[in-house]
Amino acid sequence: MTQIAVIGPGAIGCTVAAWLMQNSAHDVMVAARTAIVDLEIETTEGVLKAAPRVIAHVDAATRVDWVLVTTKAYDANGAAAWFKGLCDAGTIVAVLQNGVEHVERFAPYIAREHILPVMVDLPAERTAPGRVRQRNSGRMVVPQGGIGAGFVELFSHTHIAVSQSTDFKTEVWSKLCINSVGALSAILLKPAVIAHHEGVAQIMRGIVRECIAVGRAEGALLPDSLTQSVLAGYRSAAPDSLNSLHADRLAGRRMEIDARNGVIVRLGHKHGIPTPLNTMVVALLEATSV
Ligand SMILES: NC(=O)c1ccc[n+]([C@@H]2O[C@H](COP(=O)([O-])OP(=O)(O)OC[C@H]3O[C@@H](n4cnc5c(N)ncnc54)[C@H](OP(=O)(O)O)[C@@H]3O)[C@@H](O)[C@H]2O)c1
Repeated sequence: MTQIAVIGPGAIGCTVAAWLMQNSAHDVMVAARTAIVDLEIETTEGVLKAAPRVIAHVDAATRVDWVLVTTKAYDANGAAAWFKGLCDAGTIVAVLQNGVEHVERFAPYIAREHILPVMVDLPAERTAPGRVRQRNSGRMVVPQGGIGAGFVELFSHTHIAVSQSTDFKTEVWSKLCINSVGALSAILLKPAVIAHHEGVAQIMRGIVRECIAVGRAEGALLPDSLTQSVLAGYRSAAPDSLNSLHADRLAGRRMEIDARNGVIVRLGHKHGIPTPLNTMVVALLEATSV
């Protein structure tokens, strides 16, 4: 049996835990801050049901082969508190989060060579504890290598497309370009339809241009055409669709401001690249909770 622990039974955690449990060779445990009883995932191909072992305290944790961290990026410290019960020298910690700093976020807690960053493109929303709507089959990307191959194998029985990339940096920065413009919806409290407003679209293009410049300085290969393709993607989404930053603000939850826009400002500063638009959206988003 492959022993797997999923830390954080939110939208992504419940979805991957339920999919992993469709393989009887997987023994899946869920580490929860807020208790759940079981899982029901509404997918485009039907409802997935699963009843993993749920633990609410680190004392109940046992050693596993794989830890999948699916908390929000800002909950890294809380997620890492589970490691002492779950990890030994052979455990791999896969970080299924947004942003570009998966490894840096967990390096204070576990050796870098044991951390597998995962780019997650899996639209899912929590409708109740343990209940998730997965909007499409989705995909995940990991760096090329032996550990990456093991992660691909974990999901080989699922409908989620999991692949390895020889240029993972470009994968995560491309996703960051898409995520970066979601800040405007969260500030304005307007869903995707707002991208048809030409003034807002201009700001979106500028936010992406800053992200491209910083990403290139970090070594990602980002074409200029991303500016247009990100906007086109936003405009072709359902007019009422909410990005997760916007959904979190509406629900009164903390937003992943730093992982999505703050990082562009911080790394821009490191490379001497001005990022006035991202600086502005970070300030405005932070001010919403003052
Ligand atoms: N949802 C998507 O469509 C999507 C798509 C791509 C990428 N992502 C990324 O994936 C990551 C997870 O997002 P999400 O949407 O799944 O977030 P989410 O629905 O807010 O779920 C996060 C879960 O982590 C739990 N948690 C927080 N601290 C914990 C701790 N110390 N121990 C155990 N559990 C803890 C939360 O508990 P509570 O139940 O108490 O809140 C919640 O259940 C984020 O980085 C996000 O940006 C999400």
